Amino acid sequence: MNENKSATQNKWDNIYSAADKQIGAAAQVLRENLHLLPASGKALDFACGLGANALLLAAQGLETHAWDISEVAVTRLMEETRARGLVIHGEARDLAARPPAPESFDVIVSAHFLERPLNPYLLAALRPGGLLFYQTFTLEKVEDEGPQNPEFRLGVNELLSMFPGLRVLVYREEGLVGDTTRGYRNKAMLVAQKM
Ligand SMILES: C[S@@+](CC[C@H](N)C(=O)[O-])C[C@H]1O[C@@H](n2cnc3c(N)ncnc32)[C@H](O)[C@@H]1O
Repeated sequence: MNENKSATQNKWDNIYSAADKQIGAAAQVLRENLHLLPASGKALDFACGLGANALLLAAQGLETHAWDISEVAVTRLMEETRARGLVIHGEARDLAARPPAPESFDVIVSAHFLERPLNPYLLAALRPGGLLFYQTFTLEKVEDEGPQNPEFRLGVNELLSMFPGLRVLVYREEGLVGDTTRGYRNKAMLVAQKM
């Protein structure tokens, strides 16, 4: 074991070392809004995990970067990238210590990683005209998926005001309204553009 690993890195490396941990589908916020992507540009999958979003972004022809604190996750993503004949620039990186540089990306996807102190860096990292695709778990839920700690779940309407100054293109948060056996539940999604 690497003695210099942080507790966070250890935790996620262990999770991604499990043989049954599979890539899964890209985030709904990205899958449902692919038509909003630019034809070219530089994209970042922020805290990518096994990189389902990065793989989709790369397949769309974007110069794709994928960063995560887990070396195991990034190594697995690089293997999958090669197997699919794609190109992704993967990096094992602690985003709290080394957030993206200002105005460095045309597209940023952040899925299931709620670290509020990093929001200003996400905002700053978008180039003018750049798009943020964001999706994560809400406090209001009908199923027990996602983090148990309420601190890591969004409050009502929180995502709508979390990135001030962006033009909102897509917002979806259905909470517990209506027939909760249908619709988009347990999460909120946002696609927004830097003006
Ligand atoms: C719930 S997973 C989400 C992964 C992926 N975005 C997805 O939606 O499947 C949260 C991810 O955040 C990463 N992570 C946690 N703290 C981090 C940090 N400080 N810097 C970079 N990545 C971090 C974990 O390694 C993990 O892959």
